[in-house]
Amino acid sequence: MRLLVTGGAGFIGANFVHQTVTTRPGVQVTVLDKLTYAGNRSSLDPIADRIEFVHGDIADAALVERLVGGVDAVVHFAAESHNDNSLADPWPFVQTNIVGTYSLLQAVRKHQVRYHHISTDEVYGDLELDDPSAFTEATPYNPSSPYSASKASSDMLVRAWVRSFGVRATISNCSNNYGPYQHVEKFIPRQITNLIDGVRPRLYGSGHQVRDWIHVDDHNSAVWEILERGRIGRTYLIGAQGERDNKSVVQLILEAFGRPADDFDHVTDRPGHDLRYAIDSSLLRTELGWTPRYSDFRTGLAATVQWYRDNENWWRPQKAATENAYAAAGEKVL
Ligand SMILES: NC(=O)c1ccc[n+]([C@@H]2O[C@H](COP(=O)([O-])OP(=O)(O)OC[C@H]3O[C@@H](n4cnc5c(N)ncnc54)[C@H](O)[C@@H]3O)[C@@H](O)[C@H]2O)c1
Repeated sequence: MRLLVTGGAGFIGANFVHQTVTTRPGVQVTVLDKLTYAGNRSSLDPIADRIEFVHGDIADAALVERLVGGVDAVVHFAAESHNDNSLADPWPFVQTNIVGTYSLLQAVRKHQVRYHHISTDEVYGDLELDDPSAFTEATPYNPSSPYSASKASSDMLVRAWVRSFGVRATISNCSNNYGPYQHVEKFIPRQITNLIDGVRPRLYGSGHQVRDWIHVDDHNSAVWEILERGRIGRTYLIGAQGERDNKSVVQLILEAFGRPADDFDHVTDRPGHDLRYAIDSSLLRTELGWTPRYSDFRTGLAATVQWYRDNENWWRPQKAATENAYAAAGEKVL
């Protein structure tokens, strides 16, 4: 199988490419990545001689058409992915997440190539903290931020291309990922790298917002199940029953560093910060028989803390710029 992976230098995409070359040596991988601030070519260094890397933009229709014409399937991870950035400047989110997806869909339509679309549970909006329900494939879309609205728009394009043009596509909406190679702007790596630097962690608002955490390897094993055995036109929710409030995540990270549970600062909450996300992944589990490997969040988190301790060379170059950007955006607790 020849596979085009967009966004393969980003967090989830890079882990997907690592998992693919390790578990499926017969698959020929081409990565297409624009190497934005979030892309890091060095994430692919350990497997550089086993893949092809193309530096380019998914919104470049001619490039995308040429690449898609040479593969059997596309897995589309590339995106602007950081909620906070989408509040400061929504335009790149519209351009990459919507126009970029459009360009891929036109190419897979023309070449009749199998397409898997990576999306997020944030398209469903949020749940009240005391609401015991979870998102399912039937939950209506209700995005809150420019990021989630742009992802929701791209999902809708995929559905329309399946219905209108017979594109062989599947969609997955996954909950919050954690694991190696995640940019230090994101919640868990930021807390870990701050602690390595001796800086107290910071928490938005009360820290009672609940996220449903999944290890990135579990997300990617589910993507492979869907790519190989998923029903065309279907949406699958991916989650590992990893619900935790942000405060308890910070406390587990503090525990991994042997620090007291109250050793953190509060910062003002961001506008529209979603309260709770929770995924019901029964369809994926019953129809495709998928199960997560990391059923214990504490174990997966401890492994992630260790990865950031062992791979300072990977994250150190991003750290100062990220903290400067947070400071410039108004987070004064440094
Ligand atoms: N991180 C999560 O918790 C999470 C959860 C569910 C779904 N998702 C989805 O998974 C996908 C990957 O997320 P991530 O966390 O790995 O993101 P990321 O920001 O770490 O990586 C995105 C990658 O896409 C590349 N990219 C950006 N714009 C591009 C363009 N125009 N052309 C080509 N490449 C471009 C970047 O250079 C980067 O390598 C996204 O679609 C995101 O919406 C993420």
